[in-house]
Amino acid sequence: MDPRADILPLVLDDVSFEINGMRLIKDLSCTFEAGPRTAIIGPNGAGKSLFLRLCHGLLTPSAGTIRWAGPDGADPVAAQAMVFQRPIMLRRSVAANVDFALKLRNHGKPDRTAIIDEVLGRCGLRRLKDNPARVLSFGEQQKLALARAWALKPQVLFLDEPTASLDPAATHAVEEIVQAIHHEGTRIIMTTHDLGQARRLADEIIFLHRGRMLEHAPTETFFTEPKNDLAQAFVKGELLWWKLGKDNRRAGGYEVDKAPRRRN
Ligand SMILES: Nc1ncnc2c1ncn2[C@@H]1O[C@H](COP(=O)(O)OP(=O)(O)OP(=O)(O)O)[C@@H](O)[C@H]1O
Ligand SMILES: [Mg+2]
Repeated sequence: MDPRADILPLVLDDVSFEINGMRLIKDLSCTFEAGPRTAIIGPNGAGKSLFLRLCHGLLTPSAGTIRWAGPDGADPVAAQAMVFQRPIMLRRSVAANVDFALKLRNHGKPDRTAIIDEVLGRCGLRRLKDNPARVLSFGEQQKLALARAWALKPQVLFLDEPTASLDPAATHAVEEIVQAIHHEGTRIIMTTHDLGQARRLADEIIFLHRGRMLEHAPTETFFTEPKNDLAQAFVKGELLWWKLGKDNRRAGGYEVDKAPRRRN
């Protein structure tokens, strides 16, 4: 495989994911082309993290397919990175955390030293480079997780709630880093609970609810005229349980709990 070949588009075709008989992701189809940034939004438990984990290859669909660019494409594992909702820091210094990720991708020592200095500088962590990563504040750990992913220069970066629990200044700093990564050509696919952030950072929105994709639209269209009524309620900040009572299961044309299962 050519390591420089494009891994995009990423195509999900009728993907479902099931654990212990529970369908947690349901009949999900979409295509991610190179370029635009995607925000996946939806209430707690909607399946946003599962969706990212499926795309990143950490989980295997129970039905349907997830395909990266054709047989001549690059290695999709090596050309993508993910920052998790709760980033895990290794018990070593800030710089060594980035170094470890680079060693796994077979970068030589001089190369690694230069990349570590560059990404720590750009993420505002250079002064902390020798500190143990595990004593960093939560916001600093988020920045380090981004620096570690950025160091790999991935074609696609999955971000799961990159600013959850951060204060406004740290959120702004992380958003700037995400923008810089985007401007360098990395495809951003992220989840967020912050609708303002989705508007600021994303070109298109995917709205998930109970494992189902109810809307996929350009950001402006999604926020000004969402078609699905659950998406409308979500954008207005309304709670969604009112749609889920036994007597009121229909939601914007979907039987929320009882969508027909497709055969594959
Ligand atoms: N390993 C598992 N076993 C059983 N259920 C699971 C497992 N992983 C996730 N789930 C369930 O799948 C649903 C979707 O979980 P997921 O973490 O993707 O939600 P989310 O949209 O990311 O929510 P949040 O906004 O709280 O991060 C939840 O109801 C969760 O309890
Ligand atoms: Mg999540």
